[in-house]
Amino acid sequence: MEVSGRILVTGATGSMGAAAVETLAEAGHPVLMACRNLAKAEAVRADILSRFPQADLVIRPLDLSSMASVRQFADGLEKGSVQALFNNAGTISKCYSITEDGFENTLSVNYFGPWLLTCLLLPILPADARIVNMVSLTCRYVSLDETALQPTEKQFSQLGTYARAKRALLSFSLELARRYPSLRVNLADPGIVASNMIDLGHWYDPLADRLFKPLCKTPKAGVQPALRALAAAEGNRYYVGKGSRAIPGRYLDPALDVRIWAATEALISV
Ligand SMILES: NC(=O)c1ccc[n+]([C@@H]2O[C@H](COP(=O)([O-])OP(=O)(O)OC[C@H]3O[C@@H](n4cnc5c(N)ncnc54)[C@H](OP(=O)(O)O)[C@@H]3O)[C@@H](O)[C@H]2O)c1
Repeated sequence: MEVSGRILVTGATGSMGAAAVETLAEAGHPVLMACRNLAKAEAVRADILSRFPQADLVIRPLDLSSMASVRQFADGLEKGSVQALFNNAGTISKCYSITEDGFENTLSVNYFGPWLLTCLLLPILPADARIVNMVSLTCRYVSLDETALQPTEKQFSQLGTYARAKRALLSFSLELARRYPSLRVNLADPGIVASNMIDLGHWYDPLADRLFKPLCKTPKAGVQPALRALAAAEGNRYYVGKGSRAIPGRYLDPALDVRIWAATEALISV
């Protein structure tokens, strides 16, 4: 992998986040772990250091459900301190809840937070920085428009809102690449991964759980597309499975991307 400098990984305490940090550390990359739970982050760091004592891992607090936290995080970073950004953190809220900024929580963590974080980091990132955004195969089952950014309680559904948040992140990625063509913005789709997020016990009865779980990837396997995207020479690719492809045609709608960007910008001022 030819990335040099500190790689910023959000959600570094999560199943795939921690697996990414470990792989990057093993390869000798300094990593900035952006995490909301610092005690958990320290435990992940200590665990990785026990295997890779040379690992250079710095932890900083970041709560993507708070735009104030995102701004504070970005304010603390100096130009050149981050070489690449992996927007990995995500959540699937079981119930409708509104953050201090007035956003639905799943949208805040999966979309508004990464949107603001990325925009605030642009001045400190290299012009050709690699940015990898973690999306999901659920994107293909939903459509996107401006109303999806602020669902009412009636419009909220656990998986539907999550899918639209990821679809919005995908739209943001494409428009970001158009506005900043020197950046290398790629999408990573891990498939279905047996992680903390997929709380199978809550979704399926024990029989379905037993049938489904063996089909899920391990976090280490699931994060491989993102790691390959973090090493990519070019942007604008969709990393999934063992390879990458052009962005699927179903997601190509530049006019929609412009509208979603404008609607987001109206809700968050950078
Ligand atoms: N698992 C799958 O099948 C699957 C499929 C497609 C896409 N993805 C995506 O892959 C990414 C990683 O997910 P995962 O499966 O590894 O899930 P995970 O184990 O639940 O990890 C999620 C990470 O996001 C962090 N996070 C949650 N809310 C946050 C907040 N408000 N502020 C900052 N960080 C927050 C979590 O922090 P805590 O440790 O503090 O909870 C954790 O580090 C997510 O973007 C997810 O949507 C997953």
